[in-house]
Amino acid sequence: MTYTTRLLDDDTWDDFARLVEANNGVWGGCWCMGFHPEGLGKDSTADGNRRAKREHVRRRTVRQVLVYDGDECVGWCQYGPPAELPNILNRKAYEKELTELPDWRIGCIFTGRGHRGKGVARAAVAGVLDAVEKAGGGLVEAYPEQVEGREPQRGSYFHTGPEDLFAEFGFERDRKIAKWRWTMRRQV
Ligand SMILES: CC(C)(COP(=O)(O)OP(=O)(O)OC[C@H]1O[C@@H](n2cnc3c(N)ncnc32)[C@H](O)[C@@H]1OP(=O)(O)O)[C@@H](O)C(=O)NCCC(=O)NCCS
Repeated sequence: MTYTTRLLDDDTWDDFARLVEANNGVWGGCWCMGFHPEGLGKDSTADGNRRAKREHVRRRTVRQVLVYDGDECVGWCQYGPPAELPNILNRKAYEKELTELPDWRIGCIFTGRGHRGKGVARAAVAGVLDAVEKAGGGLVEAYPEQVEGREPQRGSYFHTGPEDLFAEFGFERDRKIAKWRWTMRRQV
Protein backbone atom coordinates (compact mmCIF):
# COMPACT_ATOMS: atom_id res chain seq x y z
CA MET A 1 0.00 0.00 0.00
CA THR A 2 1.14 3.54 -0.67
CA TYR A 3 0.08 6.02 1.96
CA THR A 4 0.59 9.74 2.32
CA THR A 5 0.83 11.72 5.54
CA ARG A 6 -0.33 15.15 6.68
CA LEU A 7 -0.30 16.90 10.02
CA LEU A 8 -3.46 17.36 12.05
CA ASP A 9 -4.41 21.03 11.74
CA ASP A 10 -7.43 23.21 10.93
CA ASP A 11 -7.40 21.96 7.33
CA THR A 12 -7.28 18.25 8.19
CA TRP A 13 -9.53 18.32 11.27
CA ASP A 14 -12.59 17.07 9.38
CA ASP A 15 -10.66 14.07 8.01
CA PHE A 16 -9.46 13.19 11.51
CA ALA A 17 -12.95 13.68 12.98
CA ARG A 18 -14.47 11.39 10.33
CA LEU A 19 -12.04 8.61 11.27
CA VAL A 20 -12.70 9.03 15.00
CA GLU A 21 -16.47 9.05 14.47
CA ALA A 22 -16.28 5.94 12.25
CA ASN A 23 -14.59 4.22 15.21
CA ASN A 24 -17.12 5.21 17.87
CA GLY A 25 -15.06 8.14 19.17
CA VAL A 26 -12.14 5.71 19.74
CA TRP A 27 -12.46 3.87 23.05
CA GLY A 28 -16.05 5.09 23.22
CA GLY A 29 -15.09 8.78 22.93
CA CYS A 30 -11.54 9.54 24.09
CA TRP A 31 -10.81 11.52 20.92
CA CYS A 32 -7.12 10.81 21.58
CA MET A 33 -7.04 13.16 24.59
CA GLY A 34 -5.34 10.78 27.04
CA PHE A 35 -1.78 12.15 26.73
CA HIS A 36 -2.73 15.84 26.63
CA PRO A 37 -2.44 17.90 29.85
CA GLU A 38 -6.21 17.63 30.53
CA GLY A 39 -6.05 13.82 30.25
CA LEU A 40 -9.15 11.67 30.58
CA GLY A 41 -10.85 12.11 33.94
CA LYS A 42 -13.83 10.22 35.30
CA ASP A 43 -16.01 13.23 34.40
CA SER A 44 -14.79 13.59 30.82
CA THR A 45 -17.35 12.97 28.09
CA ALA A 46 -17.04 12.18 24.40
CA ASP A 47 -18.39 15.66 23.50
CA GLY A 48 -16.04 17.35 25.95
CA ASN A 49 -13.08 15.37 24.64
CA ARG A 50 -13.98 16.30 21.07
CA ARG A 51 -14.17 20.00 21.99
CA ALA A 52 -10.88 19.80 23.90
CA LYS A 53 -9.12 18.14 20.95
CA ARG A 54 -10.55 20.71 18.53
CA GLU A 55 -9.28 23.49 20.79
CA HIS A 56 -5.77 21.99 20.83
CA VAL A 57 -5.83 22.00 17.04
CA ARG A 58 -7.02 25.63 16.98
CA ARG A 59 -4.30 26.67 19.44
CA ARG A 60 -1.71 24.48 17.68
CA THR A 61 -0.84 22.61 20.85
CA VAL A 62 -1.18 19.20 19.23
CA ARG A 63 1.20 17.38 16.91
CA GLN A 64 -0.18 14.40 15.13
CA VAL A 65 0.68 12.72 11.86
CA LEU A 66 -2.38 11.55 9.93
CA VAL A 67 -2.05 8.72 7.41
CA TYR A 68 -4.12 8.86 4.21
CA ASP A 69 -5.18 6.16 1.81
CA GLY A 70 -6.11 8.40 -1.10
CA ASP A 71 -8.40 11.07 0.40
CA GLU A 72 -9.36 9.01 3.42
CA CYS A 73 -7.64 9.45 6.77
CA VAL A 74 -7.07 5.91 8.05
CA GLY A 75 -4.78 6.33 11.05
CA TRP A 76 -2.53 8.55 13.12
CA CYS A 77 0.44 8.79 15.44
CA GLN A 78 0.64 11.54 18.05
CA TYR A 79 3.95 13.06 19.21
CA GLY A 80 5.28 16.12 20.99
CA PRO A 81 7.61 17.42 23.68
CA PRO A 82 6.95 16.10 27.21
CA ALA A 83 5.25 19.35 28.29
CA GLU A 84 2.60 18.83 25.59
CA LEU A 85 2.16 15.13 26.43
CA PRO A 86 2.63 14.83 30.19
CA ASN A 87 0.14 12.04 30.86
CA ILE A 88 2.05 8.95 29.89
CA LEU A 89 0.93 5.60 31.26
CA ASN A 90 2.73 4.21 34.33
CA ARG A 91 4.03 7.67 35.10
CA LYS A 92 5.14 6.84 38.66
CA ALA A 93 7.22 3.88 37.54
CA TYR A 94 8.58 5.96 34.67
CA GLU A 95 9.63 8.83 36.95
CA LYS A 96 11.26 6.53 39.51
CA GLU A 97 14.28 5.84 37.32
CA LEU A 98 14.12 8.93 35.19
CA THR A 99 17.50 10.52 34.58
CA GLU A 100 16.84 12.60 31.49
CA LEU A 101 13.58 13.69 29.90
CA PRO A 102 13.44 13.10 26.14
CA ASP A 103 13.06 15.93 23.65
CA TRP A 104 10.08 14.16 22.10
CA ARG A 105 7.48 11.63 23.07
CA ILE A 106 5.34 9.39 20.93
CA GLY A 107 1.82 9.23 22.34
CA CYS A 108 -1.20 7.44 20.95
CA ILE A 109 -1.16 5.45 17.77
CA PHE A 110 -4.30 4.34 16.02
CA THR A 111 -5.36 2.64 12.80
CA GLY A 112 -9.04 2.56 11.85
CA ARG A 113 -10.91 -0.74 11.85
CA GLY A 114 -10.72 -2.33 8.43
CA HIS A 115 -7.30 -0.81 7.74
CA ARG A 116 -5.19 -2.74 10.22
CA GLY A 117 -2.34 -5.04 9.28
CA LYS A 118 -1.51 -3.09 6.11
CA GLY A 119 1.30 -0.83 7.25
CA VAL A 120 -0.70 2.24 8.34
CA ALA A 121 0.97 2.45 11.77
CA ARG A 122 4.35 1.95 10.10
CA ALA A 123 3.64 4.91 7.80
CA ALA A 124 2.49 6.96 10.82
CA VAL A 125 5.67 6.34 12.82
CA ALA A 126 7.81 7.05 9.73
CA GLY A 127 5.90 10.34 9.38
CA VAL A 128 6.54 11.26 13.01
CA LEU A 129 10.29 10.60 12.74
CA ASP A 130 10.36 12.72 9.62
CA ALA A 131 8.51 15.56 11.38
CA VAL A 132 10.86 15.32 14.38
CA GLU A 133 13.86 15.51 12.09
CA LYS A 134 12.44 18.59 10.37
CA ALA A 135 11.88 20.15 13.80
CA GLY A 136 15.57 19.72 14.68
CA GLY A 137 15.69 16.11 15.92
CA GLY A 138 16.66 14.95 19.41
CA LEU A 139 15.97 12.08 21.78
CA VAL A 140 12.63 10.39 21.01
CA GLU A 141 10.81 8.10 23.42
CA ALA A 142 7.99 5.63 22.86
CA TYR A 143 6.16 3.51 25.45
CA PRO A 144 5.06 0.42 23.55
CA GLU A 145 3.71 -2.93 24.65
CA GLN A 146 5.90 -6.00 24.57
CA VAL A 147 4.68 -8.54 22.03
CA GLU A 148 7.12 -11.40 22.46
CA GLY A 149 6.50 -13.99 25.15
CA ARG A 150 2.81 -13.37 25.72
CA GLU A 151 -0.56 -14.27 24.24
CA PRO A 152 -1.50 -12.30 21.10
CA GLN A 153 -3.16 -9.05 22.20
CA ARG A 154 -6.20 -7.33 20.79
CA GLY A 155 -5.67 -3.98 19.08
CA SER A 156 -6.67 -1.63 21.89
CA TYR A 157 -3.87 -2.89 24.14
CA PHE A 158 -1.58 -1.37 21.61
CA HIS A 159 -2.64 2.26 21.80
CA THR A 160 1.02 3.11 22.45
CA GLY A 161 2.03 0.68 19.70
CA PRO A 162 3.63 -2.77 19.66
CA GLU A 163 7.31 -3.01 20.59
CA ASP A 164 8.27 -4.66 17.29
CA LEU A 165 7.08 -1.65 15.34
CA PHE A 166 9.44 0.67 17.19
CA ALA A 167 12.30 -1.85 17.13
CA GLU A 168 11.91 -1.83 13.35
CA PHE A 169 12.69 1.91 13.40
CA GLY A 170 15.77 1.48 15.60
CA PHE A 171 14.24 2.23 19.00
CA GLU A 172 15.94 0.34 21.84
CA ARG A 173 14.63 -0.71 25.23
CA ASP A 174 15.63 1.75 27.94
CA ARG A 175 13.65 0.38 30.91
CA LYS A 176 10.55 -1.50 31.87
CA ILE A 177 7.71 0.60 33.30
CA ALA A 178 4.98 -2.05 33.61
CA LYS A 179 4.70 -5.80 33.30
CA TRP A 180 4.50 -5.60 29.51
CA ARG A 181 5.42 -1.98 28.75
CA TRP A 182 8.82 -0.52 27.97
CA THR A 183 10.33 2.89 27.55
CA MET A 184 12.14 2.72 24.21
CA ARG A 185 14.45 5.40 22.84
CA ARG A 186 16.28 6.52 19.77
CA GLN A 187 18.10 9.61 18.59
CA VAL A 188 16.94 11.42 15.48
C1 LIG B 1 -1.67 -1.27 17.11
C2 LIG B 1 -2.16 -0.66 15.82
C3 LIG B 1 -1.91 0.85 15.85
C4 LIG B 1 -1.35 -1.28 14.67
O1 LIG B 1 -1.70 -0.61 13.49
P1 LIG B 1 -1.55 -1.28 12.02
O2 LIG B 1 -1.73 -0.19 11.05
O3 LIG B 1 -2.43 -2.46 11.94
O4 LIG B 1 -0.02 -1.76 12.09
P2 LIG B 1 0.95 -2.05 10.82
O5 LIG B 1 0.20 -2.84 9.81
O6 LIG B 1 1.59 -0.80 10.39
O7 LIG B 1 2.03 -2.99 11.51
C5 LIG B 1 3.40 -2.68 11.59
C6 LIG B 1 4.09 -3.65 12.55
O8 LIG B 1 3.57 -3.46 13.90
C7 LIG B 1 3.47 -4.75 14.56
N1 LIG B 1 2.06 -5.03 14.84
C8 LIG B 1 0.97 -4.43 14.32
N2 LIG B 1 -0.17 -4.92 14.86
C9 LIG B 1 0.21 -5.87 15.76
C10 LIG B 1 -0.50 -6.75 16.63
N3 LIG B 1 -1.84 -6.74 16.70
N4 LIG B 1 0.23 -7.60 17.41
C11 LIG B 1 1.56 -7.59 17.36
N5 LIG B 1 2.30 -6.78 16.55
C12 LIG B 1 1.63 -5.94 15.75
C13 LIG B 1 4.06 -5.77 13.60
O9 LIG B 1 5.44 -5.85 13.88
C14 LIG B 1 3.81 -5.12 12.25
O10 LIG B 1 4.71 -5.55 11.25
P3 LIG B 1 4.33 -6.86 10.33
O11 LIG B 1 2.97 -6.59 9.76
O12 LIG B 1 5.40 -6.85 9.31
O13 LIG B 1 4.33 -8.02 11.26
C15 LIG B 1 -3.67 -0.99 15.59
O14 LIG B 1 -3.90 -2.35 15.84
C16 LIG B 1 -4.60 -0.15 16.46
O15 LIG B 1 -4.94 0.97 16.13
N6 LIG B 1 -5.02 -0.66 17.60
C17 LIG B 1 -5.88 0.12 18.50
C18 LIG B 1 -5.03 1.10 19.26
C19 LIG B 1 -5.87 2.09 20.02
O16 LIG B 1 -6.86 1.73 20.64
N7 LIG B 1 -5.44 3.35 19.98
C20 LIG B 1 -6.14 4.40 20.68
C21 LIG B 1 -5.37 5.65 20.45
S1 LIG B 1 -6.14 7.02 21.23
